[in-house]
Amino acid sequence: MGLLRGADQGSMRQSGRVAAGGVGAGGLKPAWRRNNASDLLNTDFREVLMSVIKAVDLAYGRLRSPDLDKQEEFLTAFGMVRADRTKTALYMRGTDSPHHIHVTELGAPKYVGIALHAGSLEDLEKLARTPGASPVESIDEPGGGKRVRLTDPDGFQVEIVHGMAQLPKIAVARPAVNIGEDKTRRRNALYRVERGPSHVKRIGHFVVHSPQFEKTLGWYRDMLGFRCSDEVYADKKENLVGSFNRLDRGDDYVDHHVFFCIRSDKAGLNHLSYEAADMDDIMIGHEHLVEKGYEHFWGIGRHSLGSQVFDYWGDPWGRVHEHWADTDVLNASVPANLWGRGEIGGPWGEAPPERFMHHATP
Ligand SMILES: [Fe+2]
Repeated sequence: MGLLRGADQGSMRQSGRVAAGGVGAGGLKPAWRRNNASDLLNTDFREVLMSVIKAVDLAYGRLRSPDLDKQEEFLTAFGMVRADRTKTALYMRGTDSPHHIHVTELGAPKYVGIALHAGSLEDLEKLARTPGASPVESIDEPGGGKRVRLTDPDGFQVEIVHGMAQLPKIAVARPAVNIGEDKTRRRNALYRVERGPSHVKRIGHFVVHSPQFEKTLGWYRDMLGFRCSDEVYADKKENLVGSFNRLDRGDDYVDHHVFFCIRSDKAGLNHLSYEAADMDDIMIGHEHLVEKGYEHFWGIGRHSLGSQVFDYWGDPWGRVHEHWADTDVLNASVPANLWGRGEIGGPWGEAPPERFMHHATP
């Protein structure tokens, strides 16, 4: 651990997690300081001890599409609302206040990258001092703010933003439900909601495939302070195939995962994930997307790790977008767990189809 103490950019110390039995942590350097093979060989990437910053939230996914009209049509049917549109890009929001949670640039289909919020301008300055980072720059796009651009080990852009415009929330009226002991939450009133798109509230997580799983996972943890929630192995415990990671906001409760990394033979986005208003909202939105003829990938079901009720849809270029509701929330006190791949079937819903499991948008 001695090497870590010398890392001048490190801001916080995060206690290691140990549930996934594995090799001991040697002298662990932050990923951006590892510069040869022996650094990696001596690293237990599962035990991140220090990060440059702790990201405070996910901001948006950034895709590229050849037709912004088609993209907007899909995202509107999926339940987002246009925040702004220029000749070359589309910015979509949810019902929560961030200016946007989805960006589409005009161009050949591509996963450009992901964006997260930093808690302060000082955090952007820390990131700007890491190798390969952009300087702190003003964002010349609707919503404004400042950012630093990084590149993850698989070559995708990671924007860390601060000071994005906040908009008034969009009110969503959802009826109370008479379930459980209290059958009078909805009194002298009828359950009536309109058919149509779901109501996307906020962005929840992103999932990538990586052919250099350890390096990619280590990079995100080292840079942004992600904390492991659950990991999954195949055959033997040393053979990790997936890792669920959450934000570290100390005592605050955060979604079970903001980032899921999958060991793969290819690099790319598996899906972007968005919270819907509630479970009925997902069901109603599902029917709307069926009627519109969009491509369904998986669901409706409930996950085991994270526990969300989920539904997955492809946009016109096959990029997968998830609706979910009702996640587990954890604070930093909860240690990580290790699960065999066969142990993680959800309580209901079909198993993931092969084409979903192996889906990666480059
Ligand atoms: Fe997901």
